[in-house]
Amino acid sequence: MKASVTAHKDYTVAKIDDRVYSAFLEHLGRAIYTGIYEPDHPTADANGMRGDVAQLVRDLNIPYVRYPGGNFVSAYNWEDGVGPRAQRPTRLDLAWHTSDSNAVGVHEFSDWCDTVNTKMMLAINLGSRGLDDARNFVEYVNGPTGSKWGDLRKKNGRAAPFDVNLWCLGNEMDGPWQIGHKTADEYGRLANEVAKTLRAFDKGLELIVCGSSHSDMKTYPEWERIVLEHTYENVDHISLHMYFANRAKNTANYLALNAKLDRYISTVESTINVVKGNKRSRREVGISFDEWNVWYHSNAQDRAILEGNEGWPHAPRLLEDVYNFEDVLQVGCILNTFIRKSNVVRIACIAQLVNVIAPIMTDPAGAAWRQTIYYPYYFASIFGRGTALNLAVKCPGYDADVADNVPYVDIAGVHDDDGGTVSFFIVNRHLTDSIDAEVSLQGFGAGARIIDHQVMTHSMLEAVNTATDQTNVAPKKGSGAVIEDGLVKAKLPPLSYQMIRVSLA
Ligand code: AHR
Repeated sequence: MKASVTAHKDYTVAKIDDRVYSAFLEHLGRAIYTGIYEPDHPTADANGMRGDVAQLVRDLNIPYVRYPGGNFVSAYNWEDGVGPRAQRPTRLDLAWHTSDSNAVGVHEFSDWCDTVNTKMMLAINLGSRGLDDARNFVEYVNGPTGSKWGDLRKKNGRAAPFDVNLWCLGNEMDGPWQIGHKTADEYGRLANEVAKTLRAFDKGLELIVCGSSHSDMKTYPEWERIVLEHTYENVDHISLHMYFANRAKNTANYLALNAKLDRYISTVESTINVVKGNKRSRREVGISFDEWNVWYHSNAQDRAILEGNEGWPHAPRLLEDVYNFEDVLQVGCILNTFIRKSNVVRIACIAQLVNVIAPIMTDPAGAAWRQTIYYPYYFASIFGRGTALNLAVKCPGYDADVADNVPYVDIAGVHDDDGGTVSFFIVNRHLTDSIDAEVSLQGFGAGARIIDHQVMTHSMLEAVNTATDQTNVAPKKGSGAVIEDGLVKAKLPPLSYQMIRVSLA
C-alpha cells in the first residue's frame, strides 16, 4: 500500500500557538500529593516537590499548566490553600469523594511552575461560588500591594503579583455531574458578568469560557452558541474537552476517533463564526482544548471510591490509567489533529500530567517513569513548534464507527522557519499492512536531509511501561528513511508511530 503526501512551504494552516502543548494538574488522586509534591521523597527539594518528577516535566517544555481543576475547582475555596500550612484546613472534595489537606495551594504551585519552566493557567470556581469570589481570587493573584488582597498575598510570603494571564471561567458547567451545574443561559450570563468584572480589573487578561464537556452532550453545540451569545465580546477562547476510550477492544474504531475530534473542532469553529456574524463582530475567539487524553483503563477500579464506599481518603489512587502501546498511536493522532486545526485551536492541555490519566507515573517513595504516551506528547511539544503545513494526503482509507474513509495514514507537518526544519508526525493505523509513504517537499529549496527519525512499534498493543520495566515501550532510532528527488521516502510498519525531521539547510 502507498501513501503520497505533498508539503508546500507556502501552503500552510497557521502559525501554531505553542500553548497547544500545555497540560493540566488537578487536586485529584495522586496528581499533586505523591505526584508533584512529596516532602519525604528522596528527590524532594526544599519546597517538598519531587525532583525526579520535575525533571520529567521540564523535559516536555510545557508552556502552561492548568490548575487546580477540573471538577475539583467547582467547590474549591482558594483561601484554604494560602497562608501558614499548619493553619490550612483539610476539606472534603465533593467531586472525587476524597479529602484534601491543602498543603499545596496557589503559592506552592506557582513555585513549582517556576521550577519546571512553565506558567500557571488558573481556573475559577463558578460552581459553588460566583462573581465576588472570582474578583477576590484574581486580585489576590494579580493585584498590587496596598490593597486588601495584594497585602494578604504579601503577608503570605509573596509581594510581587503572580501575573497570571490565562483564566478559565469555571469548569464543564454544562455537565449535570458538576457542582453548581447551570443551563447555558444561566452560565452564559454569569460568565459574561465575571468576564466584564475581570476586564475592569485588567483588560489584558485572556479569558476562557466553558464549552461542552464532550461532543455527545445533549446540549452540544447549542451550549456553545448560547454561551457565546452571552459572552462573545468579553472572552478570548471557548474550552472543549474530550476523552478517548477503546472499551469495545476494536483498534480500528479506536484509532479513527480523531475524525470525531476533527468534526467537534470544526463544528465549534462554525458556531463561533455564527455568533460572530450575528454580532457583526470583528473579535476573534479561539478554542482552548483544555482537557484531552485517553481515559478508560482505570474506570472499574475507581468505582468504589467515587461511589463513596471508602470514606474520604487523602490522595488515593484514582484515574491511574496505565497506558499501552495502542494509546501511543491514539495520542499521536490527537496531537496531529490539533496541529492541523491550529488556525482555531490556540490552547490544548493534556489531561492530566502526573499519575491521574497522565504521561508521568510515580510510586510513593519510589520511582517516577514515562508512560507510553509520554513520547508522542514529547515529540510534538519539542519539535512541533512553527507553522502547520496544509498537507495534501492521498492514501486509502477504511470505514469506522465514527467516520467513513478514514485514511490509514494520519500525518501532520510543521515547518520551523527559524530552525530551518520540517518535522512530520506520522501514524500508520493499518492493522496488518506496511505503507510506503512518499512526502513531496515543494518550495523548500534544494539540500534537504533527514536529521532525525524516531519510530515506535511493538509486537503487543497491550504493552505498557511499569516501575520495574520503564522502557518496554519507547522510541527507537529509525532507519531506511531517505530523501530522493525531493521526496521523503519511508516505510511505515503496521500500527506504528514515527517522527521524521528534515533539515532544509
Ligand atoms: O480530568 C478528569 C476530569 O475530567 C476533570 O476533573 C473534569 O473536568 C473532566 O470531567
